Amino acid sequence: MTGPVNRRLLLRRRPEGRVTLDDFTFARETIPQPNDGEAVVRVLFLSIDPTNRIWMTDVDQYMPPVAIGDVMRGAAIGIVTDSRSVRYPAGAYVSGLLGWQDYALVSDSGPSSPNVLPATLPVPLSAMLGVCGLTGVTAYFGLLDIGKPKSGDTVVISAAAGAVGSIVGQIALLHGCRTVGIAGGPEKCAWLRELGFHAAIDYKAHGWRDALAEATPNGIDVYFENVGGEIMDAAFERLALRARVVLCGFIANYNSGTRADGNFTPLLMKRARAEGFIISDYRGRWLEAVAALAGWVAAGKIRYRETIVDGLERSVDALNMLFDGTNLGKVVVRVAEPDASAP
Ligand SMILES: NC(=O)c1ccc[n+]([C@@H]2O[C@H](COP(=O)([O-])OP(=O)(O)OC[C@H]3O[C@@H](n4cnc5c(N)ncnc54)[C@H](OP(=O)(O)O)[C@@H]3O)[C@@H](O)[C@H]2O)c1
Repeated sequence: MTGPVNRRLLLRRRPEGRVTLDDFTFARETIPQPNDGEAVVRVLFLSIDPTNRIWMTDVDQYMPPVAIGDVMRGAAIGIVTDSRSVRYPAGAYVSGLLGWQDYALVSDSGPSSPNVLPATLPVPLSAMLGVCGLTGVTAYFGLLDIGKPKSGDTVVISAAAGAVGSIVGQIALLHGCRTVGIAGGPEKCAWLRELGFHAAIDYKAHGWRDALAEATPNGIDVYFENVGGEIMDAAFERLALRARVVLCGFIANYNSGTRADGNFTPLLMKRARAEGFIISDYRGRWLEAVAALAGWVAAGKIRYRETIVDGLERSVDALNMLFDGTNLGKVVVRVAEPDASAP
């Protein structure tokens, strides 16, 4: 094929364990042409999320898994390059499920039509997927709506140096909470302390359970769960009376596809409440969270990190960073340079 092509990562088979590039076909197709009511979007930044791994697995979940042969589902930001649509004019930036590909065809009336971003953004484009996008909004509603922290509460967060966790912790600090993060390695823990966390527990270090107990002398009032497994069990053992457990994710289980088993006895003994949530349920309140997050970022009250990986072909590597813990903050793949893509 000569001239520009649309490179697409098509799911070839269901990965077992860690995802490899062999689980995909790297197709090269012609760039789609829009019909009336459609537009073509050049993908610029892909949001790399633990849920990408869930979508590859044929298990009961909140959306159907990606079908074999389909383009990998993924949230992304892109720019409209060719339009026969009123809703998506050429040059507009859009955010939605554009997929792991160079170009997406979007339509005015599709069930998962992307949103048009405002002309003026509160943060750089890539951060509209992170602190002012999916992960920031998840942190905001997960903590405030489900966790309902009160000033003076002890809030503990797992995967605390990640995209969601680092924002949860800073929102907890803004609400006057004693804030404790659990993360893997001294570098991540040092960053959490720099952000103002009262304590940072390195779960890869010897004696981390004792360190967690020391950091939570009055128990845990709000536990924000991103991981599952032994970290969840250790946190459950520290729950305070009438604690709230926010079930955001169980990343320790996604590669194996196993159930997130846990010891639920402390929830009974401490009359605790555990509640799961899926952030897409908050679609109607999205802008409320973005406004608050943007305000905190502008005021220097929330800081964020990004791990930017260049090249669509490195999407699988980028996804595996989440499971190896080699990311700091939000992982995005830069598929194309924003400025070079304007129509
Ligand atoms: N409910 C929702 O709607 C929703 C929306 C977005 C995200 N989530 C969930 O939120 C969680 C965090 O997502 P994110 O995008 O912010 O990712 P992230 O925290 O930026 O990255 C994942 C982190 O998880 C940790 N991790 C991975 N495997 C682990 C294991 N086996 N044991 C302990 N820690 C492990 C690693 O940190 P360490 O180096 O510290 O181990 C890694 O950096 C995920 O569970 C995700 O599914 C839920």
